Amino acid sequence: MSACRICGGNLTEYVDFGRQPLSDAFVKPDQTENEFFFRLAVAMCEACTMVQLVEEVPRDRMFHHDYPYQSSGSSVMRKHFELVAHRFLDSELTSDDPFIVEIGSNDGIMLKAVSDAGIKHLGVEPSGAVGEMARSKGVRVRTAFFEESTATEIAESEGHADVIYAANTICHIPYLDSIFRGVDALLKPGGVFVFEDPYFGDIVEKTSFDQIYDEHFYLFTARSVRAMAQRFGFDLVDVERLPVHGGEVRYSISRQGERTPTAAVAALLAEEDERRLAEPATVEAFGASVRKIRDDLVALLTKLKEEGRTVAAYGATAKSATVANYCGLGPELVSYVSDTTPAKQHRLTPGSHIPVYPPEVFRENYPEYALLFAWNHADEIMANEQGFRDAGGKWILYVPEVRVV
Ligand code: SAH
Ligand code: TYD
Ligand code: ZN
Repeated sequence: MSACRICGGNLTEYVDFGRQPLSDAFVKPDQTENEFFFRLAVAMCEACTMVQLVEEVPRDRMFHHDYPYQSSGSSVMRKHFELVAHRFLDSELTSDDPFIVEIGSNDGIMLKAVSDAGIKHLGVEPSGAVGEMARSKGVRVRTAFFEESTATEIAESEGHADVIYAANTICHIPYLDSIFRGVDALLKPGGVFVFEDPYFGDIVEKTSFDQIYDEHFYLFTARSVRAMAQRFGFDLVDVERLPVHGGEVRYSISRQGERTPTAAVAALLAEEDERRLAEPATVEAFGASVRKIRDDLVALLTKLKEEGRTVAAYGATAKSATVANYCGLGPELVSYVSDTTPAKQHRLTPGSHIPVYPPEVFRENYPEYALLFAWNHADEIMANEQGFRDAGGKWILYVPEVRVV
């Protein structure tokens, strides 16, 4: 059994999703032979309670020039990140010479507003193609993995940062000791490190087990994040629950003693204690709920197939790799997936080999049922696809339980 990636403590394994492919490795139809697989299983540290994957995928296999995920594919997320930028511009970035660094800036969804405001910024993003998209929007990007050495170089060449920000990226990084040393090297005295990621509290509450995949190495709680921050000389000074991506928490971290933790920190810690979120029985019960969703979904799709219904899916999310491969879904149960991302279209979903087509294919000939893989964008997608429902189409959801709406 491996040791905790944060504190070296003992890990207890809870849920095993079996052999899984890389969630964002959409394959060309003639290249299904050489897919990479790993064992996806979730464990919790008996000492610091950090929930984490048991097996680590080498980072260059996931984040390379052609990494396909584009943050700007959702209008709700574009609005969300515009608000984030304006919050920083109005608060932490009001000194004489403000500077913000974003880790995992992707296609520039957040930094564009900072750049438009004429404020000094730098995105650190290893994936080349999305970094180019950000540059075309006027965003400065360094094509690199953020780690201690990158942070030291940035501090030397560009100066220290008031804010280091990351969305849906810190949970992707197993080597957080190096990240915290980097943050310490790059952050100005009094500066703040802010990151937002899927919240384990929401994942348990909604049984959103598809948040577990190769890239999501950690599933954070306030308790585990605070323990980690303190271990590395920092403190958790604020938390904010966010509705995006099915429920996230935004954590604010500063050097120990520099800021007073808000009441929200104590409140969320107390709520987690009350829910017994970090206790073995809770994580075991989560595993049982996961297995029930799998069984219900497979039963529903099998029944629809037997009845001769047409079923497609919507949103070729990274999350759906876990659902499709864990439930054994393939093109015989789900004929294709509709997705707006050019780099995913006309490829096959990893492991499960369901073809991905642009939304025009969906709209030209609606299926009777659409399995909503991008359930986190349900409001946006259902509004955009009102025509599907008007034509008698039905959505299949599986979070928090399997149902047809
Ligand atoms: N912040 C965006 C993108 C999230 S996807 C959003 O919230 O929508 C995660 C991004 O992190 C990817 O673009 C990936 O290439 C990048 N990433 C992964 N490891 C990283 C690291 N060590 N340093 C910086 N970026 C990293
Ligand atoms: P998302 O749920 O944001 O992330 P992840 O891949 O990490 O699970 O992915 C949403 C996917 O759905 C993305 O490939 C774009 C696609 N999409 C559409 O096809 N249409 C839409 O209207 C929206 C909002 C997303
Ligand atoms: Zn630990």
